Amino acid sequence: MALLRLVLGPSRRRPERFYSVLSTHNLLSEHSLFMNLGYWADPGVRTLDEAGHALAELLGQTARLGPRDEVLDVGFGFGDQILHWLGRFQPRRFSGIDLTPLHVEVARERMVRAGVASRVGLLVGSATRMPFAPRCFDKVVALECAFHFDTREDFFAEAWRVLRPGGRLALTDILPLTGHRFSRPFQAVWQIPRENLYGREIYRARLVAAGFEDVEVHSIREHVYEPLLRFLRQRLEAPEIVHRMNPLLRLAGRPWWYAPLVRSTFDYVLATGVKPVSIAP
Ligand SMILES: C[S@@+](CC[C@H](N)C(=O)[O-])C[C@H]1O[C@@H](n2cnc3c(N)ncnc32)[C@H](O)[C@@H]1O
Repeated sequence: MALLRLVLGPSRRRPERFYSVLSTHNLLSEHSLFMNLGYWADPGVRTLDEAGHALAELLGQTARLGPRDEVLDVGFGFGDQILHWLGRFQPRRFSGIDLTPLHVEVARERMVRAGVASRVGLLVGSATRMPFAPRCFDKVVALECAFHFDTREDFFAEAWRVLRPGGRLALTDILPLTGHRFSRPFQAVWQIPRENLYGREIYRARLVAAGFEDVEVHSIREHVYEPLLRFLRQRLEAPEIVHRMNPLLRLAGRPWWYAPLVRSTFDYVLATGVKPVSIAP
């Protein structure tokens, strides 16, 4: 019923509804709780866990995370990438904000279990109205979530506000290929605001308009969608998944009906920009 309400309901602005349906038992990972599509460039990457870590690694490197950084992770989900980044880059401190209460609750428990809770503060809240003072972070990262934000541009403005001068924003994000739109059912299920549906050139222009410099927006779609579609074909038939996943979601996840659409209309970008050092106080 909740799935039907998502498709037929009027709102395209409540992503937490989608994630409540997904929960933890409908994820296709084996050990992690990553909810991104993964980065599959290395042929040795064979599972969604490995692909999720590879995407987190790519974003951590793009953000140039380092030991002196205070980092804000926006849309952190169940927090796997925070654990990855803590181990790999040892930033001083992480804050996180996510709209879905279940994600915040589970991620907090996982930080306690991993023994890192004193270095990680996680809040329920929206990327477009963040309860943080201006200029309090060195890095803002958003791993595959800004397409949900209402709107992505409002988030760019918020990220700029909370970054220190010289601070860096880095994201991976889903968007249509230039000149295309997403289908309505996809937009409805994933609760994507219409305002976020533009191509990579406009994406770049909006980061620049928000005040960022050294802006780079690269498509990495060939290392995301095609290998993911291959993976999904076999993973959805795995006995463990057949046993634990909601049958309707498993049916909806079968790639045969949406693969042509994904190939012809979906882009996937790695984007970054820097808040200028020389700005008025
Ligand atoms: C595709 S999941 C990615 C989660 C995580 N970054 C990962 O890679 O596993 C998108 C996340 O964005 C969060 N989200 C959606 N809209 C949001 C908003 N307006 N503000 C903060 N978080 C939001 C969702 O709750 C969800 O956790």
